[in-house]
Amino acid sequence: MIRLPGLIDPHVHLREPGAIYKEDFDSGTAAALAGGFTIVLAMPNTKPPLIDEGSLALAQKAARAKARCDYGLYLGAGHENRTSAAALAQQVCGMKLYLDQTYGPLRIDDLGLLRDHIAHWPAQRALAAHAEGRSLAAVIFLAALEDRPIHVCHVSRKAEILLIKQAKQRGIAITCEVSPHHLFLTEDDLPRLGPGRGEVRPSLATYEDQQALWDNLDVIDCFASDHAPHTAAEKDGPNPPPGFPGLETTLGLMLTAVRDGRLTIEQCIERMYTNPHRIFGLPEQPETWVEIDPDAEWEVQAEKFFTGCDWTPYEGMRLRGRVTRVILRGKIVFQEGKFLEGLGYGQDVAPAFQNVGTV
Ligand code: NCD
Ligand code: ZN
Ligand code: ZN
Ligand code: ZN
Repeated sequence: MIRLPGLIDPHVHLREPGAIYKEDFDSGTAAALAGGFTIVLAMPNTKPPLIDEGSLALAQKAARAKARCDYGLYLGAGHENRTSAAALAQQVCGMKLYLDQTYGPLRIDDLGLLRDHIAHWPAQRALAAHAEGRSLAAVIFLAALEDRPIHVCHVSRKAEILLIKQAKQRGIAITCEVSPHHLFLTEDDLPRLGPGRGEVRPSLATYEDQQALWDNLDVIDCFASDHAPHTAAEKDGPNPPPGFPGLETTLGLMLTAVRDGRLTIEQCIERMYTNPHRIFGLPEQPETWVEIDPDAEWEVQAEKFFTGCDWTPYEGMRLRGRVTRVILRGKIVFQEGKFLEGLGYGQDVAPAFQNVGTV
């Protein structure tokens, strides 16, 4: 048995409010615990999107009633909350900027709006961006002009990781995360997955892009599942939404890579606990840890997972390393496939944030 700290997934989509047939705070946080995570940071591209007090209250209420692990909620940068967003900073784990087309209505195209959001959001609170290709250069520059940190979501391309490396070398306050599908899958997996199931943003990349991520592990601050549940029927339908589920496969993929000598367990812990804890300023979770059987081998089967998502791009894959027990704030919350605390045991990380000023 090995003991890991309670892992942190800084990028998940839990679909509540609005699409709880794909996921809700119950199924999503159950999947998180089963995957070894004790904190998840939930994205704001829900229905309605989390952009104001009313929409945020809907998510907070649902999470308070149902979450099984601790969580933070992101506020979305929208067209209507340019001046009002900062007042909500103490209630969320950060603000999310969408600079490119993806699932949901939150894309920002307008330079002035983007600049204003970056300028107004409190520097002490995280600012995370979906920014691919040239958008990445834009958001790095805008954040640097405001002298504030920026966190880049799901980096997938060689040119992007090299740009982030160069920005870090220049002393720019930038951090980034990479998702397991960009480390373990490439466009060569598309024929096997099929066109709908293979849809994800950023799209699966080339072998060269994938290698560049592995070659620059030291530039990658976090691993984030970007758990983006959509049903198999939606993925196989006429307008397949982009996104892969990931909460219950991320740790297994990483531990398998550890076994294969591609990374060390220490590198894993830095990227799944130490760095996200620091970057997002998350509270300590006393008496919290995850117990792993590092030698247990298991086969990925979507039907055995707790997520509301009924498929996985890793179906049939054999992984090494299984979560046997999760202890959260002194209580056994997960053991051998069973959840031992009630719904709502999970806490919002936001009240722990102090001295977050508004602008
Ligand atoms: C995400 C989703 O479905 O919400 N999809 C995805 O392909 N990653 C949105 C996102 O993270 O960009
Ligand atoms: Zn994204
Ligand atoms: Zn996402
Ligand atoms: Zn700490």
